[in-house]
Amino acid sequence: MNLRGVFVSGFVAAVMVALGGVPAHSLDNGVARTPPMGWNSWNKFACKGINEKVVREAADQMASSGMKDAGYQYVVIDDCWQTGRDAVGNIVVDAEKFPGGIKALADYVHSKGLKFGIYTDVGTMTCAKRPGSIGHEYQDARQYAAWGVDYLKEDWCNTLPGQNAESSYTLMRNALAETGRPILFSICEWGSNKPWLWAGSIGNMWRATGDIQDCWNCKKDWGGNGVVQILDLMNGIESYSGPGHWNDPDMLEVGNGGLNTTESRAHFSMWALFSAPLLAGNDLGNMSPETKAILMNKEVIAIDQDAMGVQGHRVKKMGDLEVWSKQLADGGRAVALLNRSEKPATISADWQDLGYPSKLNASVRDLWAHKDVGSKTGSYSAEVPSHGVVMVTVKP
Ligand code: GLA
Repeated sequence: MNLRGVFVSGFVAAVMVALGGVPAHSLDNGVARTPPMGWNSWNKFACKGINEKVVREAADQMASSGMKDAGYQYVVIDDCWQTGRDAVGNIVVDAEKFPGGIKALADYVHSKGLKFGIYTDVGTMTCAKRPGSIGHEYQDARQYAAWGVDYLKEDWCNTLPGQNAESSYTLMRNALAETGRPILFSICEWGSNKPWLWAGSIGNMWRATGDIQDCWNCKKDWGGNGVVQILDLMNGIESYSGPGHWNDPDMLEVGNGGLNTTESRAHFSMWALFSAPLLAGNDLGNMSPETKAILMNKEVIAIDQDAMGVQGHRVKKMGDLEVWSKQLADGGRAVALLNRSEKPATISADWQDLGYPSKLNASVRDLWAHKDVGSKTGSYSAEVPSHGVVMVTVKP
């Protein structure tokens, strides 16, 4: 870098620090420069339903349904692929669920032009009481790399008393780096230790919230959240997310039956507005046309994948009617008019809420209607269904 480059990057870093809330570095493993996209087995199949047939079918469907072309890439097995450790501590695969072993499954996923992910836990056992990685981090990382793993999710169940999250995840980051294989590292400690404050140089993404539930508005005592609860938890931590290091509001529930089509569109739109990882959590072999149209809405996916990697935030709240905005690399904004109420309502986004002068002419495009709605000055208003969004781009 020449002297001017040093000065400019030093200045940018100083401004970021002065603004506060920006992690010092993002994890330098070359992956997840845009939010990861893929599928994870947990939301639909959990422990009971997971096996190698389900994973192969997910890979087949991802490749043939159009999802791969729309940007989905990772096929991730969640909990319950492992049963124990052998005499020398190597992880033992559940032979009933995965008789062909993990290497063959990874090879199969790779043969479809996709990437392969797996799951572990920083503690003694996973949340479903399968063996965790504590004390075996380097051994496990080496094994994952030998199998061809491209993505590791590490959970936070059954930790030792006082176990430190930052040092535990740093240990696995280092173990993964040691393998020499680029492996996306997904931290899953549910936001318990405010990972956005420390995980930017440790993981490529970190869960910022407890487990998503397949419902619009619900809250479980143990920490499970509906869609709207997650929206509120994500607002305010936007400055910590960016290329290579993303806030993760958890996997998608689109297509799992608990949300209607309007709610599912809103869920998907808001995850895109967050630059969230987009991990489908449904049965890809059994998707309705509505589910497909949501998961493969390329205009909404483009918002999620915008190169600038900004997490959008709420710019206006009038009771249950809200306006959310995300800055885009081309100077435009993605805007979600969100109606959390039980009745349809008109919601208006003022240009000033988006950081634009009110005299500005801007072209507005509706990303669900797939229609240009014309040039607008000062504001844009639309009728929004109950539990729905109208999502538009506003481009000066
Ligand atoms: C935790 C995680 C979930 C899932 C399960 C598996 O609850 O947050 O995403 O991985 O464990 O047991």
